[in-house]
Amino acid sequence: MILCRTIAELKNELYSIKHSNDQATIGLVPTMGFLHEGHASLMRQSVAENIASVLSIFVNPMQFGPNEDFERYPRDEARDLAIAKENGIDIVFMPEVKEMYPSKPRTSVMISQLTERLCGASRPGHFDGVGLVVSKLFHLVQPDRAYFGMKDAQQLAVIQQMTDDLNIPVEIVPCPIVREPDGLALSSRNVYLSAEQRQQAVVLSQSLALAKQMVEEKGITPEELIARVKAKISEAGQAEIDYVEWLTYPSLELPAWNEPIADHSEKYILALAVKFGSTRLIDNALFVPNTRGE
Ligand code: PAJ
Repeated sequence: MILCRTIAELKNELYSIKHSNDQATIGLVPTMGFLHEGHASLMRQSVAENIASVLSIFVNPMQFGPNEDFERYPRDEARDLAIAKENGIDIVFMPEVKEMYPSKPRTSVMISQLTERLCGASRPGHFDGVGLVVSKLFHLVQPDRAYFGMKDAQQLAVIQQMTDDLNIPVEIVPCPIVREPDGLALSSRNVYLSAEQRQQAVVLSQSLALAKQMVEEKGITPEELIARVKAKISEAGQAEIDYVEWLTYPSLELPAWNEPIADHSEKYILALAVKFGSTRLIDNALFVPNTRGE
């Protein structure tokens, strides 16, 4: 495994891979590090599907708001490199902020509509920062495939839209959410939780499981579903709801609010963002209510 801290080193390594095998396919796994099994599952899929795999580790300041956790975002280089190596990564690209942004960028990548709700509404400017860094990584690595987790379902939809709109020649590969045994979705931010908050955080996946049952109920509307999911989350004493939304996926549009869910056969997402103290967790599940299309 080779570690590249500069763009020049990365380009050299990619050049020698392509030079020795011009058919070599490249997989890219973009991350912000502090790696866990969720990231590792993306790495393994990339390694299985490509001749060479690049893992990028970069805590991207452009996607953090002024009052967010950029400074205190957890970092552990040595551990990350060990995990990358164990999972078969060929190149780790781990640049400094100055390498990626030698000066303030004057180009913005603004993906409209899909960013108006959910995390786009709670974190203004966040997806502009994600769009900018991911398009830079796509241009630097020029991967055949890039791997993104469904944990960040809105991010995945936004990246797919950007790739389509700009005809970027990369296949976006969605990967399933990896969870702890009790259901909590793995996240680098889980380390911020106190023992009590960690226990209470299972309410996110529990409320998604409850929603799975409710969707089957005859006559239930999005409005009722959301109210009941909110009530379930509020049972956790320290939980503070940021959003609970039921939207079409991946278009992220509002559904017919007062019509029974079971009458519809589109794909929907139930997306949650809940704060425990200063730690904001997200989770989601996809649903196709009427699979028989009746
Ligand atoms: P980060 O939060 O480090 O996540 C990197 C990738 O891992 C994302 O595609 C995310 O969806 C995926 N991931 C995280 N937790 C997961 C889980 N429990 N199961 C499956 N996949 C999971 O997302 C980012 O970084 C950044 O926004 C980035 C795309 C790197 C741009 O800076």
